[in-house]
Amino acid sequence: MNIAIVGTGYVGLVTGTCFAEMGTNVTCVDIDTKKIDKLNNGIMPIYEPGLEELVKKNIREGRLHFTTDLTSVLDKVEIVFSAVGTPPDEDGSADLHYVLDVARTFGQKINRYTLLVTKSTVPVGTAQKVKAAIREELEKRGVNIPFDVASNPEFLKEGAAIKDFMNPDRVVVGVDTQQARTLMERLYKPFLLNGFPILFMDVSSAEMTKYAANAMLATRISFMNDIANLCERIGANVDMVRKGMGTDDRIGSRFLYAGCGYGGSCFPKDVKALCHTGRKNGYPMRVIEAVEAVNENQKEIVADKLKEALGADLNGKVIALWGLAFKPETDDMREAPALVIIDKLLEAGATVRAFDPIAMDEARRKIGNKIMYCNNIYEAAEGADAIALATEWKQFRLPDWNTVRKTMRGNLIVDGRNIYDQNELADKGFRYTRIGKKLAE
Ligand code: UDX
Repeated sequence: MNIAIVGTGYVGLVTGTCFAEMGTNVTCVDIDTKKIDKLNNGIMPIYEPGLEELVKKNIREGRLHFTTDLTSVLDKVEIVFSAVGTPPDEDGSADLHYVLDVARTFGQKINRYTLLVTKSTVPVGTAQKVKAAIREELEKRGVNIPFDVASNPEFLKEGAAIKDFMNPDRVVVGVDTQQARTLMERLYKPFLLNGFPILFMDVSSAEMTKYAANAMLATRISFMNDIANLCERIGANVDMVRKGMGTDDRIGSRFLYAGCGYGGSCFPKDVKALCHTGRKNGYPMRVIEAVEAVNENQKEIVADKLKEALGADLNGKVIALWGLAFKPETDDMREAPALVIIDKLLEAGATVRAFDPIAMDEARRKIGNKIMYCNNIYEAAEGADAIALATEWKQFRLPDWNTVRKTMRGNLIVDGRNIYDQNELADKGFRYTRIGKKLAE
């Protein structure tokens, strides 16, 4: 089977590589020439565990190709996946510009039945727009070539993308015709031995499923952050509350961790887009709107706690920031809480000394020289009045606190991911506060 994947971002590159690994002949297409050159030479545009080896292996074995020219591959493939970006517009709606561009090229160039599958997260109703764009192009050519549009949303998590793609909880496929369904069944057949179900449904439901799933996960996080903030005020322990709740089978224990807010390329964007779809359809999504508002507030809490302890004016104060990526095992800083923390600290006059195991280059690109970049957590802590933890990297879990204490000027720790032990830190002479817990007197 021959397929093309348009867009070599997170989703496109992982999708293409994993299909190739399972025996399909895949051509990945991107308009970014530099990116394609690098990929052809085995250089990855993103960090993702296991990806580089798998890309190189499949290039070597002849199943994975990279090109900038979609037109040249359209003749050879049965399925085209569209995995291009859908960045949020100013009003929060998803910008479908790239998705529709792919549809137009598809309409201009196909010469026989081809299936276009949308993998990008797109608002309900996008498949209709994609179909209309393709039809328009076919009419311009004066031809009547059959085609289908399907929806196959992706649920993979950054940092575990390959594993998630190879062993998903389920695959959701939205199709309108038997022909499209048969093609998708053939494509996913080699994966079926892994035992997960493929859920076929109509296209709109598939589009909606992705938003509903991400919004539900974001809701759990904002819900717990709200509970944590109340726990702080009434003296309850949110970790015990989480365990007490999570052991109820109906609730489950995952995605209940209070912290300094969710970030990344998906939750913030998809939550905003769903709010927008609700408003546009005369049904504002009250729960989801609140999820978003709570998260915006939560991203400020680490900086607020620092100011509460050190004073609103942070001129002359030095803050060590441990972690910049929106979560561990990625260099992605899109919508990262660290960005809000940095802005608020700089605004209050503080000097920020940051370290992240992988996201340093990304941070330099995004933030520039407004902050200081350090080589490790100890260097970041040198001369600092406080340490703020924004990302729960494994290697941050067990620092040598005696060394940290000696290098610091002050002794305050603000734990934005609730990973440290208050008693241990008190024994070592630190003042400690976390999400859901006041600074110990
Ligand atoms: C998410 C979804 O999990 C995935 O299904 C979808 O396809 C894309 O969006 P991802 O953005 O890679 O994946 O990150 P995820 O691991 O889900 O974490 C998202 C954010 O939530 C992170 O900032 C994380 O720190 C935060 N989070 C997660 C919490 O604050 N508490 C939790 O309990 C879980």
